[in-house]
Formats: sequence, C-alpha cells, structure tokens
Amino acid sequence: MNFDKNKKIIRIFDTTLRDGEQSPGASMNIEEKLNLARQLARLGVDTIEAGFPVASDGDFEAVKTIAQEIKNVEIAGLARANEKDIYRAYSAVKFAEKPVIHTFIATSDVHLKYKLKMTREELIEKAVNMLKYAKSFIDEVEFSAEDASRTDIDFLQLVFEEVIKAGATRLNIPDTVGYATPFEFYNFIKNIKANVKGIENVILSVHCHNDLGLGTANSLAAILAGANQIECTINGIGERAGNAALEEIVMALNVRKDIYNMETNIKTAELYRTSQLLTYITGISVQPNKAIVGKNAFAHEAGIHQDGILKEKTTYEIMTPELVGRQPNELVLGKHSGKHAFKERLKSLGYLLNEEEIDKAFIKFKSLADKKKDIYDEDIDSLVAKNSKHSEKYELKYVNVVCGDTVTPFAMVKIMIDGELKTSSEWGNGPVDAVYNSIIKITGANCTVVGYEVKSIRGTTQAQGDVSVTIEDNGINFTGRSAHTDIVVASAKAYINCLNKRYIYNKNLENISEKEPDPIYHT
Ligand code: KIV
Ligand code: ZN
Repeated sequence: MNFDKNKKIIRIFDTTLRDGEQSPGASMNIEEKLNLARQLARLGVDTIEAGFPVASDGDFEAVKTIAQEIKNVEIAGLARANEKDIYRAYSAVKFAEKPVIHTFIATSDVHLKYKLKMTREELIEKAVNMLKYAKSFIDEVEFSAEDASRTDIDFLQLVFEEVIKAGATRLNIPDTVGYATPFEFYNFIKNIKANVKGIENVILSVHCHNDLGLGTANSLAAILAGANQIECTINGIGERAGNAALEEIVMALNVRKDIYNMETNIKTAELYRTSQLLTYITGISVQPNKAIVGKNAFAHEAGIHQDGILKEKTTYEIMTPELVGRQPNELVLGKHSGKHAFKERLKSLGYLLNEEEIDKAFIKFKSLADKKKDIYDEDIDSLVAKNSKHSEKYELKYVNVVCGDTVTPFAMVKIMIDGELKTSSEWGNGPVDAVYNSIIKITGANCTVVGYEVKSIRGTTQAQGDVSVTIEDNGINFTGRSAHTDIVVASAKAYINCLNKRYIYNKNLENISEKEPDPIYHT
C-alpha cells in the first residue's frame, strides 16, 4: 500500500468515469474515456475508478484499455460483492501497474430488507467471502458499505472489523443518498475511526453524494474526523444530484490549510483544463456560478468589488485564477499565428497528436482564423475533436437551409456514408429541425433527440456556435458536439457526431468476442 501516514496527504479517488458516467447524458465512448483518464493522470489523482466492468462489454473494454495505457496511477474497477462481478473487475484491472478491486454491498436495514432480502448475519458472511475472493486475485481491495450513512453504526463497525480481518486494505463510507449533514457525518466517521479494530492499518475513505448540496461539506467534515481518502468527480457529476466535486475539495484544502492542514497530490493548475475537457466530451456544462470552474467563479461585477480588486487583489480574491489553471490574460491565437505557436498550444492543452494529425488540425485552424479573429482554447478543442480518427462512417458534405419568418423551413443535406454520397431534403419546424429530418431520412437513424444546446464560444456574433445534442437509441444516449461559425452547420455536425458515436458503440459491442474464460467459481 503506497500510503504514507505521516505525510498528511489526502488521497483523491476519482470516480468521474464510473459514478460520474452514471449522470444522465454523460456516457462516453472508449476513446473519450481514455482521453479523460490521461488528463486525470496528469491532474495527479491517486486512483482512477475507470468503470464497472460487469455492467457492459463496453465498460469492460474501457476499464481494460485504461488499465493497459495509463501508468503511474491506480486503476480501480467496481464490482458488487459476487464472484461474477469481482472476476470481471479483476480481468479488466489486472493489466494496470497498480490495480484495485472496489467491491461493495449495502449495509443499511432498508437495503437489507427490501433490496438484498438478507439478514445481517448473511450479509457479513457474504462480504467476508467476497473480500477473500477478491484478495485471491489482487492485494489492493476496497470495501464499500453502500448506504453506510443510514446504517446502524454498531452493525457497520462489526462489518468493517470482519472485512478488515478478511484482507480489505481500504474501507469506504458512502453517503449514497446524500442524506448526511456535516456535523453528523463528522461524528459518524470519528466514531468509526475510534472503535473499529484494525482501522489504523487501512485507508479510510468517504464517498458523498450531493442530494442536499452537502457533498463537499460532508467530505471536508470527514477529513477533519480522520478520513484519508475522498471519492469525488470532476465538476461534481454523478448519479442524481451528483458527487462531491473534486475541484472544490482540493481547493478548500489548498486555500484553508490553516483549518485542514492536509495536502493532496493534485496539480491545481490542471483543474480548469480537466473540467473543460469533461464538459467538452459530455456536452454537460457547469453553471456559470459553479465554484472554481464556473464561468463567473473569478469574475468581479460589482463596482465596489472591481475597485477593491484594482487596489489590492486579496480584498475580494481568496485564490488566484492562475492557481486553478485559468489564464486571465491568455495568449490568443489568430490568423498570423504560425504552426510552431499552434503546436505549442496543443501541447500545453495536453493533446498528444502525431505530425499528420497536427498538420490536419493546423489547416482547419487557418481556415477558422480566416473567419474569426481570435482563436481560443475552446476553439482548438473543437478543431481537435473534429480530427477524431473514429468519425469516418458518416461525413457531412453539404447543408443548405431556407428559413425566415415567412417560409416553412426547408433543408437539403448531403452525407458521405461509407464512401457513397447520399442526398435528401426535408421540411421542419425550424432550420435545425429541417436539417435533422433530412439526416434521419438519409441515415434511417431511428433516434430521438433528448437534449439540444447552443452556446457561443466566447461571445460576439463572430464567435463559433458550440452545439451539443443528445440522441437516444434503445435506451442508450449519445452526445455529439460540434462548433462552427454557422450554428445550423454546427447542429448538423453535432448530430453526425452522435451517429458516429452510436456506430462505434455498436461496432465495439460486435467486436468484443475475445472474452476472458469464465472463472472457476468458489462456492
Ligand atoms: O454511492 C455509492 O454508494 C456508490 C458505491 C458503489 C461506492 O457509488
Ligand atoms: Zn456513488
């Protein structure tokens, strides 16, 4: 276990790719997960929970790929406390330099009675057996007591003592339904820390949901009570109201060292970039007033505040934007920028492109710079996304719309599908609807649009429109995104992006034939 108890380090266990991905509309394909995992490693998280391998073949492949590719960071896979889940998690994380199996079972009476239909004794037996089973594969095994914060504390302590004896190296206390309050949670953790035999030899983790908006506060209270690992997600995405936000916890520890006296291994200058990348991949924006990463988090609007800031920054600023990787005077690229500057910018944004990919992106950069004066980081994100090597099935070749207040909107669209150019035209309620109806006619895509959002990338009418659209196909959501100076074109490309993701998803499912042999289950 690489945990130095004397160093006063709070471990950051990132679950953006697992609990975060359970946010409605946040599903990501393998390539996107790998990109985000690379950025999480650069950010300095201690553990990446890469997915729930038994949940689907796609999830399994994603965890396995991340385990193979991302080094120097722990890769965890989630498993319910049963042999099938645990073996599947092991089969995916075993490729990692530092693999972790994270197994869980609910311990509260309400879950025991209605969901698991088990007695307390049966639960302990199952937890212990499954812990031993996981340990037969891998040393690092985390045990989570789902709904711990609503579990009878004496029973929880008993469960914890038994799983420690069975070999658990980490205990996680989830506030699964976001029910706890900070003072109560502090006492809960303190109690467990004081009474569970053997707890001093394991990592004590918490995992707080945000149903009452208390995810961050509860996590910080747990740190004061002695927890040494926090499970959290970028931008606080996750099931329902989400999880505790990584950037908030890390910056609270950083800014209020006087209170917490704890550090993390996070490179705070990578926080904003990571948040932006997640937003870009999922199409889920954070609200403007979101702490640390929201658009307005460092904006001073009131005259009195502006005056104070000009006289002395610390009057109204408790941390600098630079500390979290926001550049107020960032270098803006434009049509006079050369390839060298462009390449350097790509590097600083964390894109690892080969020469051919850089050349392709540079041509697009030049063409965009002819249309708009200033090219920002978000514009570059959109250029690189367009270069994705997986977007070859459908390619938008042409789009033309007639619209206005006196005509019925009408669109004509041409799409290259597997090298064959197909054309169609349709009417619609508005120009975007007409374009989407035309695309559906050509591709036969029987999908429903369940989300659509247009934003401008940094402001003026000259800016690129950044469109995010989510389509649903048989219960699976695919979010596509595209930016263009014409928002109808951006909308068409975003839809095509969804269709390409849907295609890759279905292809991945077909291709995963190379499965691990079934385990010989212990009884
Ligand atoms: O919220 C929860 O209880 C979880 C567990 C699986 C850790 O996500
Ligand atoms: Zn959770």
